Amino acid sequence: MSTELIKVTINGKDFEVPKGARLIDVCREKGFDIPSFCYYSDLALQASCRMCLVRIEKMPKLQTSCTIICTDGMIVTTQSEEIEKAQRGMTEFLLANHPLDCPVCDRGGECELQEMTFDWGGLEERFTEKKNYYAERYLSPMVANDPQRCILCKRCTRVCDEWMGEDAIEAGGRGAHTVIGTYLGWLDCSQCGNCIEVCPTGTLLDATYRHQTRPWELAQSITTCNFCSDGCQMSLGSRGGEVRRSVARDRYVNGINGEFLCVKGRFGHPFINHEARIRTPMIRYKKGGKLIPATWDDAIRHVAERLDAVAEEHGRNAVGVVGSPRLTNEALHVLYKFTTELVGTQNYTTTDAFSLRSFFGHLGGPLATHRDIRYANTIVLIGGDPSELQPLTGKQIRQAVRNGSSTLVLVNSVPIRLREQAKIFLHIRPMTEDAIAFALFDRSADSLAAQKAGVEENAIAAARQAIADSTGDVVVMFGGELTATAQAVLAQLSQKFATRDRRILFHPLPLFNNSIGAHDMGMMEAPTSPRGMLNAAGNGIRALYVAGSFLPEQLEGHEDALSKLDFLVVQELFETETTAAADVVLPAASYAEQDGTFTNNDGLVQRVRQSIPALHQSKPDWVIVSQLAKELGMDFGYEMSASAVFREISETVPAYSGMRYPLLKDETNPVQAKYQVTERADVSSELSVLRECVEKLPNTGDKVMVTPDVGTELFKIGTLTDKVAQFHLLANGNPRPETTAVSPLYQIGRQNADFQLPIANLKNETSASELVD
Ligand code: SF4
Ligand code: SF4
Ligand code: SF4
Ligand code: FES
Repeated sequence: MSTELIKVTINGKDFEVPKGARLIDVCREKGFDIPSFCYYSDLALQASCRMCLVRIEKMPKLQTSCTIICTDGMIVTTQSEEIEKAQRGMTEFLLANHPLDCPVCDRGGECELQEMTFDWGGLEERFTEKKNYYAERYLSPMVANDPQRCILCKRCTRVCDEWMGEDAIEAGGRGAHTVIGTYLGWLDCSQCGNCIEVCPTGTLLDATYRHQTRPWELAQSITTCNFCSDGCQMSLGSRGGEVRRSVARDRYVNGINGEFLCVKGRFGHPFINHEARIRTPMIRYKKGGKLIPATWDDAIRHVAERLDAVAEEHGRNAVGVVGSPRLTNEALHVLYKFTTELVGTQNYTTTDAFSLRSFFGHLGGPLATHRDIRYANTIVLIGGDPSELQPLTGKQIRQAVRNGSSTLVLVNSVPIRLREQAKIFLHIRPMTEDAIAFALFDRSADSLAAQKAGVEENAIAAARQAIADSTGDVVVMFGGELTATAQAVLAQLSQKFATRDRRILFHPLPLFNNSIGAHDMGMMEAPTSPRGMLNAAGNGIRALYVAGSFLPEQLEGHEDALSKLDFLVVQELFETETTAAADVVLPAASYAEQDGTFTNNDGLVQRVRQSIPALHQSKPDWVIVSQLAKELGMDFGYEMSASAVFREISETVPAYSGMRYPLLKDETNPVQAKYQVTERADVSSELSVLRECVEKLPNTGDKVMVTPDVGTELFKIGTLTDKVAQFHLLANGNPRPETTAVSPLYQIGRQNADFQLPIANLKNETSASELVD
């Protein structure tokens, strides 16, 4: 928006506002309430509800303020009898076919239509005609629909199209019979539920939470999502110690994601209260025996004695420690301290194979926030697939191109869906991302890179030119395909392209919610990798302390590695392949049961807040490790306070210096870690190593030609999503059930004997079972 200021008068008061500002935004910013349904900041205009009416001097009729751009000298009235009368009339029209069923509507109590009717509507309904009626239905396992409640604001269709790039939902029918629906009667989409979130009425509803509670019965805690590295802010609603839903609605929380959540963040929470949670500490007293429930005191004592014995007999480095990029910063910090100060081993790692050590060691510019992405002039994405793996980043890229004017340069071996937004697409051969990173930095490598990646030389030059032509911020993103050497070179692209008016910002795309925190807390400092640790099991490594679990793909080909250990301890929420081999299993609390922080891929350090008491006998990971340290003779002195751990982090991790929990409490104003930026690092040795590596790449190789389906990665079942019955339907192709009147979970789960659903999850489906029986 222009920096030039113009004058407008609103309700008799003069204001200076930026030229080009939208009238509805200006009025609201200056404190004049304007009702609206269809206007939605950062979405294409709809201008259909006519609630935002104002009077503008010299204009003949009332005007919709959402469609008006302020002009110099404009005189506006937002409140008058005439305007109120028009707004009351509009509300009455909106309610003409809307059923007055707020007492049984899930949205009742947090419905914008309900609120607006109380605030701006008339007290009586004069329509006596029969209202339109449509049966309630399921649009998918996640989305329920009550068509007659729709006011046709089309927020849902715009969000689906503009945020998600999916266009899976549309208005059909004519006139008063227009309803929102799907193309083939069933939603074949990424199931983000953002259409539910933005719907101002109870037309689109969370099918997994339906009829469970009234919103005012829920305790709401603002916290950070525990799935991907985007770090969306969300409100977990709980009742009776059970998390019932997860929403991002801005009346509760307004973080980096606004009202956006993806399918995992919104619907993945049932793992928290799942009955398969590990309930007590367990000890396997002899190899081949059973895990026997034990008290915490006995379990901690047993672990301390056995670790001590292994270190005594085989040396400190015979004890390995493995953390998880899912843990809080507090847990990872305490684990690091336990590892380096108490155990004294050099063998430690996390289960995240995507190490960012080299990237941060050569960082040449700031990390890009999601806001930076949305307003970037140019985005360069090398590898990765944010739509599937970091969905908020995917949405920001799409909006930057569609609702902004960003240029997307895409480098990928797969024609991922973001290709639709790309101005330049380098469709490379698999595993040749390094070659392109090299050539972007060093133009003399164009011909070599083109040969290895299987693209035209001038296409690489065009990509580089797009960066050089950028008139504003350039955001450089990369996935886990880049080697450490290529990461170092890419992190220094700033020395080639940064100018006074053009910042080069970076946005790594690791997979887990706290991959960045795991790096920051030091758990990725050692050269050990998860596979390296497994290779050394029973050989150099005799005992392993694992907080989390190895990933199934890491154990592939190493199935017997864990059984070679003398002693294995695992802190976990659920039984896994790793706990199956453990000598001691300690029940860990989920993110919803503890305080802490996660650091996202923007480098933002965001709060995790306890929503419910810890289940069964579980404890936060950092508490477990602190108790073990005390048993081994070192009192960390945190006195059960997560904020004391965080204070220590701020004193020992330079990028977190000065941070305190109270400074992180406002999610609308998140705090970024202060990473060290080296503007002109010498990467000559990395360049020669990179050249050698790229030269060794083959000159031939097939390209992947098919764009993966929506959900290829997103719907994959992991330890957590395995506990959500609806995810099993999605992972199995989201089959359309016989009827949309009954929960698909009930129909498919019961009718198809081959279809494996965790039966425990059917407990919320009693209303559906009553319907069928
Ligand atoms: S769930 Fe998401 S992708 Fe599917 S229709 Fe709604 S907004 Fe579109
Ligand atoms: S379903 Fe909801 S969001 Fe979509 S048009 Fe209707 S009222 Fe608006
Ligand atoms: S985009 Fe990532 S952080 Fe956001 S809701 Fe989805 S999984 Fe959670
Ligand atoms: S908000 Fe302006 S017409 Fe709907």
